[in-house]
Amino acid sequence: MPEAQVFITRQLPVGLEQLQQVANVEVWAERQPPPYDVLLKKVKAIDGLLCLLTDRIDEQLIAAGNLKVISQVAVGYDNIDVAAATAKRIPVGHTPGVLTDATADFTWALLMAAARRVVEADRFTRTGLWRTWEPDLLLGPNITGATLGIVGFGRIGQAVARRAKGFDMRILYASTYQWEPELENSLGVKFVPLEQLLQESDFVTLHTPGSDDTYHLFSDRQFDLMKPEAILINTARGTVVDPDSLYRALTNGKIAAAAVDVTEPEPIPNDSPLLTLDNLIITPHIGSASRQTRSKMAKMAIANLIAGLRGDRLPDCVNP
Ligand code: DGY
Repeated sequence: MPEAQVFITRQLPVGLEQLQQVANVEVWAERQPPPYDVLLKKVKAIDGLLCLLTDRIDEQLIAAGNLKVISQVAVGYDNIDVAAATAKRIPVGHTPGVLTDATADFTWALLMAAARRVVEADRFTRTGLWRTWEPDLLLGPNITGATLGIVGFGRIGQAVARRAKGFDMRILYASTYQWEPELENSLGVKFVPLEQLLQESDFVTLHTPGSDDTYHLFSDRQFDLMKPEAILINTARGTVVDPDSLYRALTNGKIAAAAVDVTEPEPIPNDSPLLTLDNLIITPHIGSASRQTRSKMAKMAIANLIAGLRGDRLPDCVNP
């Protein structure tokens, strides 16, 4: 019987046979995540933790146990106190790369749905309002030839740019640094300050990590700079956009529409005023939710977990 103990905070869409050869595995079987106090108890008796972005892995939780490894089934890890883990020499794994295309595809699904008012049109039709063809019914802006502003230009931002080329868009990006000219030329993108991007873009799409640096990066001031006909897409992290500012921007005509797959907090409270707006599409954090991608993410997280239990370097390690 393996001696290592592992806790997995949700059922995964893959088999656990390989992991079970090296550890005793307990899986949280409920649909809702384990409450924090349950996790705090569990962590005292395990060597490896496989967690999701819904689990708060903070300093207190990390200090409570003797973990050998923390492995997250996501590329983002803003729910984990990596500094506290590093201080205890606990490697933290994540799943970069495998969800890039699925998330970029979904960004486009949202962009096109918001521009061409797909969700509103569906509601319109289902409520029996479709009486005839009308010249000005549910009009939206052109996507082809428009200016796209990409905020954050890592893997996913670049994958979004690759797709935008097919729509003959002018593509601007704002990022913490400028990429080399070869990459810029091959993608047909131009590096600009965020202010300029906001002033010139018809679509603004967010691809930054969630962190102290990007917290409420989009507040009143940024919406004030945007075009009144602009559309904002967020498939990154809800914390990047101040929800009160977003509400004001969408109701005061600062921007035309938005489509967000992530909110602050998550899930969005049922009484959020944002849920009353027709010019906002909200989806439940499903950017990476293709069957193939979710299975690859789970496999990668298991590989990281096994490496950590063995004391090997994680294939995809977050710690410096
Ligand atoms: C991530 O991986 O960080 C996404 O938000 C969920 O797939």
